[in-house]
Amino acid sequence: MAAEAENVAKQVEELQVNGAAPVEEEEADTVTPWEVTTTRATGIDYDKLIVRFGCRKLDDETIARFEKVTGHRACPMLRRGMFFAHRDFNAILDRKEQGKPFFLYTGRGASSGSLHLGHLVPFIFTKWLQEVFDVPLIIQMTDDEKFLWKDMKVDDAKKMARENMKDIISVGFDPEKTFIFSNLDYMCAPFYENVVKVWKVVNTNQARAIFGFTPEDCLGKAAFPAVEAAPCFASSFPQIFGKRNDIPCLIPCAIDQDPYFRMTRDVAPRLKAAKPSLIFSTFLPALQGAQTKMNASEPNTCIYLDDTPKQIKNKINKYAFSGGQQTVEEHRAKGGNCDVDISYQFLRFFMEDDEKLLEIREKYTKGEILSGELKAMATEVVQKIVAEMQERRKTVNDETVDVFTKVRPLAYKY
Ligand code: TRP
Repeated sequence: MAAEAENVAKQVEELQVNGAAPVEEEEADTVTPWEVTTTRATGIDYDKLIVRFGCRKLDDETIARFEKVTGHRACPMLRRGMFFAHRDFNAILDRKEQGKPFFLYTGRGASSGSLHLGHLVPFIFTKWLQEVFDVPLIIQMTDDEKFLWKDMKVDDAKKMARENMKDIISVGFDPEKTFIFSNLDYMCAPFYENVVKVWKVVNTNQARAIFGFTPEDCLGKAAFPAVEAAPCFASSFPQIFGKRNDIPCLIPCAIDQDPYFRMTRDVAPRLKAAKPSLIFSTFLPALQGAQTKMNASEPNTCIYLDDTPKQIKNKINKYAFSGGQQTVEEHRAKGGNCDVDISYQFLRFFMEDDEKLLEIREKYTKGEILSGELKAMATEVVQKIVAEMQERRKTVNDETVDVFTKVRPLAYKY
């Protein structure tokens, strides 16, 4: 708490001095909820980001404790550091150990009709976590956020949120244990109470320092962070948790969402509410290279969940940045660079088998596997995941969405 308060204070100070959000060095990575870029081909420097944001590295010791407490082996994304940092994850493990309640909270702002592969990462992981922890899951759809930030009508933002819900449901969440809501539909009295309580304790200078808002930004943008914060508080969902505000949540999300929850953790004690814990993922890189993440508004950087097997193959062949050499001879002699190779990065995220992955890394690095061969392997793995999603998606319709969004208790008692 003290460290976080200090961090915010420091940012406010720097803001006042510089008139802008702090940038430490000329080539610093940009990581905000609205922009993720770096000049490095190997992507964001995540170790530096941990220091800048003031969160913790998810170390081997913590992962070992997770395995001990839950009795489950860490999933590939956890073992391989795709989820790499956290805030207070141990507090959640304590509660698991003591049999005390907590819940999972994550979300999605819909800016395209279909999800892409990058969006899938936190949801696949969240589904796995929910199975391992067996706790309620809350999913927020920020149609209000997209209305405010994008050139979009309210009705279109709502429609997109609903379509995206179908993709999210297709990941395989349990309707007995999962509540999905869109802000523009759900905003009920207890939820709004939490929003105004957050508004009261964060001043405009702090919001500007944390989020980089400018005086020209509309009021809605400055007010929105409280809406993403409110689901951290159990009392926003009385149908599930009653009036309790002492039940904390764990938020699996990509690290760009941290500003919202840094703020939430700072204000929680003043609201007499439990602080959220977080577990952060890295970004799935764009096809063109790790300088940016997949961006739904730029179709050629993404693989969408409604792409055909042929489209997936073509996109990977045409766009996936290769860490291989210019000619076969050169590649055989010098080998490829997995750290910048997007096909390899996709395998790291989505390939199940550790040994096979290691073998591919070694052989590609030595030049024994060619770039085209690596692309074919990535294509196969991605096609399989997308096909499985599409198969489940066929069974999801508007009635299914109604089941998940109905305001109701979940299969837990509080
Ligand atoms: N702002 C997020 C987005 O644009 C959506 C979101 C809302 C979210 N609540 C969340 C993401 C909680 C992670 C965790 O996608």
